[in-house]
Amino acid sequence: MNNEYVMQLQNIRKEYPGVVALKNVSLEIKKGEILALIGENGAGKSTLIKTCSGAVIPTSGKIMINGKEFSSMTPQLASENGIAIIYQEFNNVGGLSAAENLFLGHPIKKGFLIDKVAMEKEAEKAFKQLNINIDPKVLVKDLTVGYQQMIEIAKAIQQDAQVLVMDEPSAPLTTAEVESMFKVVELLRAKGVSIIYISHRLDEIFRLSDRIVVLRDGEYIKTLTTKDTHVEELIQLMVGRELNETYPPRNSCIDKNKVVLELNKVCGNGDRDISFKLHKGEILGLGGLVGAGRTELAQIIFGAAKKESGQIIFNNKEIDPKTPREAIDIGIALVPEDRKRHGALLQTSVKNNINMPIYKRISRLSVIDSKKEYEIAKKYKEELVIKTPNLNQIVKNLSGGNQQKVILGKWLAANSELIIFDEPTRGIDVGAKYEIYKLINHLVENGKTILLISSEMEELMGMSDRIIVLAEGNITGELRREEFDQTSIMRLASAMKEVKIKNENTGS
Ligand SMILES: Nc1ncnc2c1ncn2[C@@H]1O[C@H](COP(=O)(O)OP(=O)(O)OP(=O)(O)O)[C@@H](O)[C@H]1O
Ligand SMILES: [Mg+2]
Repeated sequence: MNNEYVMQLQNIRKEYPGVVALKNVSLEIKKGEILALIGENGAGKSTLIKTCSGAVIPTSGKIMINGKEFSSMTPQLASENGIAIIYQEFNNVGGLSAAENLFLGHPIKKGFLIDKVAMEKEAEKAFKQLNINIDPKVLVKDLTVGYQQMIEIAKAIQQDAQVLVMDEPSAPLTTAEVESMFKVVELLRAKGVSIIYISHRLDEIFRLSDRIVVLRDGEYIKTLTTKDTHVEELIQLMVGRELNETYPPRNSCIDKNKVVLELNKVCGNGDRDISFKLHKGEILGLGGLVGAGRTELAQIIFGAAKKESGQIIFNNKEIDPKTPREAIDIGIALVPEDRKRHGALLQTSVKNNINMPIYKRISRLSVIDSKKEYEIAKKYKEELVIKTPNLNQIVKNLSGGNQQKVILGKWLAANSELIIFDEPTRGIDVGAKYEIYKLINHLVENGKTILLISSEMEELMGMSDRIIVLAEGNITGELRREEFDQTSIMRLASAMKEVKIKNENTGS
């Protein structure tokens, strides 16, 4: 064995009923390097890295760690051999403190008792080593996702990981949090830790990685040296074709005379005095930092959170939906951001999920028209290119990005007049993103109206007709298309202090 490599995956194959997730994929990682793993949704990235931890047992192939050969791993073996993984949807225990999470499974003890003080002290040291500022006593559920992830990283280091695998670590983070995460990752590389980094964001891949492995459809495609390649080449290798534009063209069809949604000084769920108008056929972007109150606002409109005061006018009628069901029935849909918690019923089939909001419509005397049910599911599977062996597949078994597409399909099938998209392309690959943008365009061209929440500035500017920016639950500004520019949006997104001062001066 070549000692240059800390870990080698050789000819890994993984078969599921009806799906070959990995077809003899090999990959090797050197000491102290950041190896990026890229590919479209469903390419097999998560499955591949799960074989290193024993979460997935390969059908065939072998895993070499420091010259030792394994045909499959167990979580125990992985941890003994210095392999740590931060999963796409990572799990920590919210009700425990940061220190307790860090030592989860192997607490420091004094006799028979858990030594809380010693753990807090050690945790403080561990966080300091990574230059992260977390109070060891704080409950994990009170921390932002960014800090929760830092604890996961610290945990891996605490367990002396030689190889740290990170599956889309930046997806749930804010821009500032991503920066801090990068710093920690770079620090670890400098200490000789090897890192496998999975991401759909190519700018991150260029910023961080030394080498890049591309997968497509469960197959190994190529390994590249980062400094010798470029975005177009990567996209071509991932997608298997060239992609010329990021945002598809749209025929603007805004009907200025028809206001579909009007908010008048709406307060509640942490938001204050939100007023705006949204016209038929318009895409209104909602910009702001994570935590600015955009999702909270969407929840109020969708009946998922309580409005305290103000008015919501939908098609010239004041509405006050108390539940999402009410909102759906009057023609409002919300495609939520956190697919695991709100969106798909993970344990049921693709077909079931897509038809969920419309069962009433496709049933007669409580009997579901199964032909219609099948056709509708098939239509959206094809339109959204959902990668699944069949429509009866359980959604949980689809790749992360394909789960997101099922949720999109569900809301498209509902045929609502106003659709609120909350981070619609998070975790979705470049090719599929383009398809989703085309779909959004198709919706407005057919008279639908859209409220688009996105933390990806490019996406917000590429897709919206108009953008309003929120900060700390207040609207801080509005930009027309010709005024779109990254700096202005950022400035408004962090403009809260000024607004507060203004409010104080006006006595409100
Ligand atoms: N438990 C399972 N049962 C059946 N099929 C599965 C299972 N887990 C994964 N698959 C299938 O294996 C393929 C690879 O999925 P994987 O999650 O590895 O993709 P990925 O590259 O991580 O995608 P994403 O970017 O969307 O996260 C997909 O077609 C998926 O549907
Ligand atoms: Mg994945």
